[in-house]
Amino acid sequence: MKNWLKFSSQNIHVGVHKADPYFGSVVPPIYPSSTYQFPTAKEGALRFSGKKKGLIYSRFTNPTVYALEKRLAALEHAERALATSSGMAAISLTLLHFLKAGDSIIAHKVLYGGTYEFIAHILPRYGITVHLVDANNEQEILSKIDDTTKVIYFETPTNPLLEVVDIEKIVRIAQKHNLISIIDNTFAPPPFQYPHDMGVDIVIHSLTKYIGGHSDVIAGAILGKLKHMDPLFGSSYIFYGPTMSPFTAYLIMRGISTLEIRLRKQEQNAFKVAQYLENHPQVERVYYPGLESHPQYQLAKKQMNGYGSVMSFEIKGGYEAGEKLVNSVEMITLAVSLGAVESLIEHPASMTHSELSPEERKQSGIGEGLIRISVGIEDPDDIIGDLDQAFKKI
Ligand SMILES: Cc1ncc(COP(=O)(O)O)c(C=O)c1O
Repeated sequence: MKNWLKFSSQNIHVGVHKADPYFGSVVPPIYPSSTYQFPTAKEGALRFSGKKKGLIYSRFTNPTVYALEKRLAALEHAERALATSSGMAAISLTLLHFLKAGDSIIAHKVLYGGTYEFIAHILPRYGITVHLVDANNEQEILSKIDDTTKVIYFETPTNPLLEVVDIEKIVRIAQKHNLISIIDNTFAPPPFQYPHDMGVDIVIHSLTKYIGGHSDVIAGAILGKLKHMDPLFGSSYIFYGPTMSPFTAYLIMRGISTLEIRLRKQEQNAFKVAQYLENHPQVERVYYPGLESHPQYQLAKKQMNGYGSVMSFEIKGGYEAGEKLVNSVEMITLAVSLGAVESLIEHPASMTHSELSPEERKQSGIGEGLIRISVGIEDPDDIIGDLDQAFKKI
């Protein structure tokens, strides 16, 4: 595809433009085939040896999934993308690829609950040492770096507190100490944040969220430069087998076509909801990087082009009040996940972050009355109206 296309056009055309020479289909064809014919034995051998490009087997590459990978790479300014069956598959595969027994990893202490579980409790089973730090505290990071340190891992904005981590600072430390920097960019997909342009080595996405955008698919992706992605593909991806189905790839491409307009509308709505919550007498505190009251508003403004539509707030009355509020909404759906067209609400202490012990939650700053809301594209008056009637029931 032509490289002069702008973001909105790439999201519609990359991966599918003239991709169907037989019928000229304008949407990406779904190829369910698990395996591909070799015209001759010699051709098969050449493909297996890597001397010739061509399809072999869909655990490695599938045409529909490949079309999505091309679109994702264009979207994230990466040289290569690999699509995976879930965001967690992308995270676990990437970490197991870059780490081995005896190595250590430094990770920001506030992470999506599943990632926290994988890093804090599963990696040590494989002889990998884990240091959970405040990634905005340079001294704390530096104090953990030694000859065994291979990876620095973080999310920004974080889940669920929407804390902003300074990407340039992490990149500087990683480059100086020869560490692989890995960011989970799920909360701020392009055009909101471009970690590769800031020098991050690997970007991960749960495509299940904003990029898929319709709560109808589970998927993930890993993106980076060829020097990292080719070995990741050749020595890990094809053997761990986290492959995405072509049907999923089709749905994600359909989602990406409207990514920009969805994100902009969600963000507009989110601003209104954040302002409403900030002025509500039953709300202790709102965490949204687009609000000037956010402690890292200036940093967010510097490194992001938009703030997303996920926010959390601490409700007065703790666990009980939080539970009552999420039980009382009528249009907003009580469900985990985020970034989709419909507004979703959840209670991290009893749901997404319940894997953490109360001490771990406290250490991560996740209060018992914290509520996370992912604002959708509905009419903002309806979202606010629904919250308003729910607050009145507490
Ligand atoms: C920031 C973040 N990363 C990764 C994941 C995991 O993604 P998936 O559910 O697609 O495996 C999630 C899920 O909520 C998430 O919020």
